Order: sequence, then structure tokens, then C-alpha cells
Amino acid sequence: MVTERENFVTFWRECELEREEGLLKIIGAQSMYQDHNNYSRVRRRSRKERLFFARVKAVFCMILFAFAVVICVKVAQQIKAGTQIEAHEPDPRQAAAPQANVSKTTTTTSTTAATEPPKNESSSEEKKEEHKMEVIDGITYVDGIMIANKSYPLPESYDPGLLPETEKAFNKMAEAAAQDGIYLFISSGYRSHFTQAQIYQEYVERDGKKAADTYSSRPGYSEHQTGYTIDVNDPSDAFRGTQEAKWLAEHCSDYGFIIRYPEGKEDKTGYEYEPWHIRYLGKKLAKKVEASGLCLEEYLGIDSEYKDK
Ligand code: DAL
Ligand code: ZN
Repeated sequence: MVTERENFVTFWRECELEREEGLLKIIGAQSMYQDHNNYSRVRRRSRKERLFFARVKAVFCMILFAFAVVICVKVAQQIKAGTQIEAHEPDPRQAAAPQANVSKTTTTTSTTAATEPPKNESSSEEKKEEHKMEVIDGITYVDGIMIANKSYPLPESYDPGLLPETEKAFNKMAEAAAQDGIYLFISSGYRSHFTQAQIYQEYVERDGKKAADTYSSRPGYSEHQTGYTIDVNDPSDAFRGTQEAKWLAEHCSDYGFIIRYPEGKEDKTGYEYEPWHIRYLGKKLAKKVEASGLCLEEYLGIDSEYKDK
């Protein structure tokens, strides 16, 4: 027999269990609520962070883009400059090492020249090309090419010696000539202002100033002072028509040289024909000048005349 008291205890326990269950439900709900809250907080923080990082990324990208644009512009400029230097390989500004105590001054003008040999066209029909003339530290450059002739002298202090690119190109050419059984050598390369003064003076004493001016440069006006010029083998009329002279005329542009004072261009270059006198311009430009049929003065649209003829 179940007593009333036992009934009451059972009932009480059931109630207790229900209460516990209810409590657990409440605790569970609270915990879920908290989890939800935490989750939302995390999400809110994450969005903010994402926005912040997106902004940082955008700024970073913009900086990178600006940086890339600047680099591209610089590279383009360098490529352009490089092309110019390649076109006129011996970049005179690089080669002009011994200028340290010459004050730096630059002036720029322009010249015009026919792009093609005159042939049968009248001068008014010739295509004219603009050339950039600069004077840097007293040295004249046309389209980046160092010029030394009767119109454009070099400073007395300019003293580069025979430039390595000139010597290297000559040696390469001499090797190729040797393969063809032709012996080429440097009889006169770089000449200082002082050396040129002595040579010129000797010629003046021997032949008189007027005659000397047709085949020898006054000090400061000789291309030999540029470091880009070489007299090959025998610098005299005896060289004319020799196998060596023919080989030189035919092949020198392959190695970046031109015959600087060609026959028939005496009134343009200011000098008599010198089949032995070569000027280094780099292969590309030497080929162009050769193909044009023009002497360097014509090609660059400049004169070669002393002020006091
Ligand atoms: N013979 C050339 C013109 C010179 O004296 O530089
Ligand atoms: Zn010479």
C-alpha cells in the first residue's frame, strides 16, 4: 500500500525534476543568446576590419599604381635615351671624363640637314631634318654626337685619350682585316691640344698657313682630340688606292667607323680627302651616314669653317 506521504514525496520529486529541466532550458537559452551575441560581435568587428583593410589595400594599390607609372615613365625615358645612345653609340657625355674642373654650361639650338643626298633634286625639294645642337662644357654635340671641326672647337683641357670603344672597335676590325690578309694598324689615334699645336705649327712652317689649313687642324679643332678618331696605316697620299685603303672604305662601317673626310666633300668637311682618317660613330649611325652618301657635316646639317678663313 502506498501511503499518502509516499505519494507526496513522489509528487515532490517529479516537481523538482520538472523545475530542474526548466532551469536547464533557461540556462540553455541564455547560453545560446550569449553565443549569438558573441557571434554578432565577432561578425561586426570583422566587417569593420574588412572595411579598414579594404581601404588600406585601396591606398596601397593606388601607391603601387603610381609607383608603377613612375617606373614605366622612367624606363620609357631610359629606353628612348638608350636608343639614342645606341644610334650614336659613343655617348660623348659619358666619355667626357676629364671635365671635372670645367664649369658646366649647356646651350641648345637646332640645325637642319638633307636626309638624302641631293642627287637630281633641287634644294627646295629636299627633305629637311631637324638636329639638336647642344654645347656642354664647351663641347658641341649634334644629336648627341661630339663634333670637332673648323666651326666647333674643343676646350684645350679636354683630354680623354683614345676612348676604349674606339680602340675595341678598331681591334675587332683589324682582326677581321687580318683574316682577309690585310694588315691595319693605328698610326695616330688620340692627339692632345698640345700635340696638335706642334704638328700644325710644323706644317705651317713647311707649307704656309693657308695650305696647312686644308689638311691639318689648328689646335683645338682636330677630331683626333675627341678620342673617337684614328689614322690608319700611312696618313699620306701613298695610302690612297692601296688594298688596305679599299678594305677600310668597304668594311669600316661594319665596325662603327666612317671615312670622315670623303673625296668630293672637301668644301663641306673643310679638309682634303683622307682615306686613312676614320671616325667612330657606332655601327648603327656609321651605317646610316654611309648609306646617306653624305659627309658627317651634311648629315648633321652643320658647317666646318674657321671664323677667320
Ligand atoms: N688631318 C686632320 C684634318 C687633323 O689634323 O685633324
Ligand atoms: Zn687624322
